[in-house]
Amino acid sequence: MPAFTATAPGKIILLGEHAVVYGQPALAVPVRNVRARAIVHAETGQKAATIHLLAPEIDLDATYDTLEPENPLRLAIAGVLNELGISRTPACSIRIQSTIPMASGLGSSAAVSVAVIRALAGFLGHPLSREKVSALAFEVEKIHHGTPSGIDNTVVTFDKPVFFSKDDDLQILSIGKPFTFVIGDTGIPSATAHTVASVRRDYQAEQQRYEDLFSSIGSLVLKAQDAIQEGKSEVLGLLMDENHAFLKEMGVSISKLDQLVEAAKKTGALGAKLSGGGGGGNMIALVSPDQADMVAKSLEKAGAVKTIISHIEPS
Ligand code: MEV
Repeated sequence: MPAFTATAPGKIILLGEHAVVYGQPALAVPVRNVRARAIVHAETGQKAATIHLLAPEIDLDATYDTLEPENPLRLAIAGVLNELGISRTPACSIRIQSTIPMASGLGSSAAVSVAVIRALAGFLGHPLSREKVSALAFEVEKIHHGTPSGIDNTVVTFDKPVFFSKDDDLQILSIGKPFTFVIGDTGIPSATAHTVASVRRDYQAEQQRYEDLFSSIGSLVLKAQDAIQEGKSEVLGLLMDENHAFLKEMGVSISKLDQLVEAAKKTGALGAKLSGGGGGGNMIALVSPDQADMVAKSLEKAGAVKTIISHIEPS
């Protein structure tokens, strides 16, 4: 059986994280210069049904049946086998590599699931539709995120800018002109499950205040959708700033994220905010293309452990 490889990109949330879990819309775009990759090979000399998993970056070298039932890789594989009605696979190995920083809001968990699901289904001779891949990855996301909205698995599966609302059909985001973002990593790992759970606790304690915050963020997202469609960078930047202020009020920013946001703004970014779950992880700054290097340098000076320059283009 020939080897099968699949990849999936990282992602950033432009506006709307957390509020999207409560039914508000959000905007997310793929970050294609970081990727997760899964390669499935047939393994000769092994018992049929043995699936060997190798992920050197997380020191994983194990067989499928020895993984804990809640292990996300086990769930991704079980999802594929169940979907295809296969109980015994040919002996194979799945090697996983990723350049997406983990636990940092860039969609690493969703991208790994999507790459594994696609590669295994392809290897078994039954490639799955994007809708099905995304739905299977969503089941795995529930382990990572507790009560995910589904935005991460959707944007990394479709590999397109999206306007996402969990109760509506997916809309591909239309882009009026290219936009450039600098992504700055605080280097502080933060599990999205934790920040999503802490927002839920706060929401339960102060329901009205949080509902107001979520719907204010939802309104910013609708305006940002228009700004992106019409190619209005200044407007989009201001909306990102406002979104960051609401995320601070929600308690998901930390001082290092605020410092990086501040540094980007001082260097001339049009807007900046945390991106993803917060509590650490990454922030994003919208910049004009000629400012990108300067803003990246100023983020590094302010303590970012890594920066990525990413573009979205009209499709
Ligand atoms: C994580 O990228 C975005 C959150 O809104 C969680 C989710 O939507 O599942 C924080």
